[in-house]
Amino acid sequence: MKPSNHDIVERDQQIIAMCTRSHYVSLVAEKAKGVVVEDVEGKQYIDMISSASVVNTGYNHPVVLAAVQRQLAKFIHFTNDYFYTRPQIALAEALAKITPGNYNKKVIFGFSGSDSIDSAIKLARAYTSRSKIISFIGAYHGSTYGAISASAIDLNMKRKIGPLLPEVMHLEYPNKFDMFDNETEQTFSERKFIEFEKHFKVYIPPEEVALILIEPIAGDLGLLPCPQRFMKLLRQFCDQHGILLAVDEIQQGFGRTGKWFSVDNYNVIPDLVIMGKAMASGFPMSAVVGRSEIFDSIAMPGQLFTLQGNAVCASAALATIKVIEEQKLLDRANEVGAYIKKRFRQIAEKSTVIYDIRGYGLSVGVELKDKNGVINATEIAKKICYRCFEHGLILIYMGGNTLRVQPPLVIKDHEIEMAMDKIEQTFTEYEKGQILDDVLDKIAGW
Ligand SMILES: Cc1ncc(COP(=O)(O)O)c(C=O)c1O
Repeated sequence: MKPSNHDIVERDQQIIAMCTRSHYVSLVAEKAKGVVVEDVEGKQYIDMISSASVVNTGYNHPVVLAAVQRQLAKFIHFTNDYFYTRPQIALAEALAKITPGNYNKKVIFGFSGSDSIDSAIKLARAYTSRSKIISFIGAYHGSTYGAISASAIDLNMKRKIGPLLPEVMHLEYPNKFDMFDNETEQTFSERKFIEFEKHFKVYIPPEEVALILIEPIAGDLGLLPCPQRFMKLLRQFCDQHGILLAVDEIQQGFGRTGKWFSVDNYNVIPDLVIMGKAMASGFPMSAVVGRSEIFDSIAMPGQLFTLQGNAVCASAALATIKVIEEQKLLDRANEVGAYIKKRFRQIAEKSTVIYDIRGYGLSVGVELKDKNGVINATEIAKKICYRCFEHGLILIYMGGNTLRVQPPLVIKDHEIEMAMDKIEQTFTEYEKGQILDDVLDKIAGW
């Protein structure tokens, strides 16, 4: 019998824990290539979210596949606990080259962005002999105990699972929607920074702070870039008080924003760069890269994992770097990103529900509002995303009402044109009242 998306999702829900997925619609992938995913019923979709910012090089890029196959023919894994492999070392050297900072670097590998957030927390505490960690309200840093403690975006990431890591504090992220009318980004940043600093004058002794952890572009909050000046002030503050600055590049790294890392869009050098997701084009791999002296502060086996730096995953990551370099995907991300923003601006001329179009490279957020100007427009986002699914596009929303437009960096001209045509058609249908309320029962989301 032909499999159906619906039946497989029913089986999934019986056996897979619900805390591991935010269900949108019942789409079960059967195969995927480039930017196209085919479900078990044979329907094809252009993936406009790159499998949650993972397949920046597209699905099954031939260069990545070939590298993996070459390594598979040699061995899948050889113990990292006691001995050495070449792909891991080559990858660490390559990461040292593409990450910001003209200083000696070291690397700790992990498997999923979350565990590398934990690595950064451990490193910062060990290096500074301080305990406090500062992150921002609205941040999503992942689900291991350290990462979930540093996150502040959903009560379900705190409920029932405590006590969480002590001494992790969350301060306000400089959200551009808090800007006063006529306020410049510069004065806004300075005002927000005075507010930020106040915490360190009355209840957080700065000399007890090990780490400030920030997403330069707050992804799950709605792809909101931190203002340039605020990042600069943050760096100065860290220098002044001996605090380490770590950037979470798990979602925005590996070319997503038109630079290797989103922090490269800022004139700021962090001490630690945390990466994952796209790094190995879908193989489980993450890393923290930074100043070598910080890494020398934890002794063996303070952050040792048996499968760390696995040779197949490391080969995939090396090939991913090669593809991004050789196909000039950083430039391509900027070029396609500019096209997407232009198309959304044109759609906004006719649509009443587009409130803001923002982002760097191929990390574009399109915030929706309802016709009465109420900004929290989750229902509109659901309707738009659901109709896009019907039209053969994978598109989701984050932060309640912001479309997450993050297609693979390898998307071709005719594919992105087709995708934007479908999005335009969807907005037209929305304006004509052709997307009925009953679709709201068919799409969930976060
Ligand atoms: C910014 C950011 N940090 C950390 C994580 C956690 O990474 P992972 O789910 O790979 O552990 C994510 C995942 O979505 C993320 O977007």
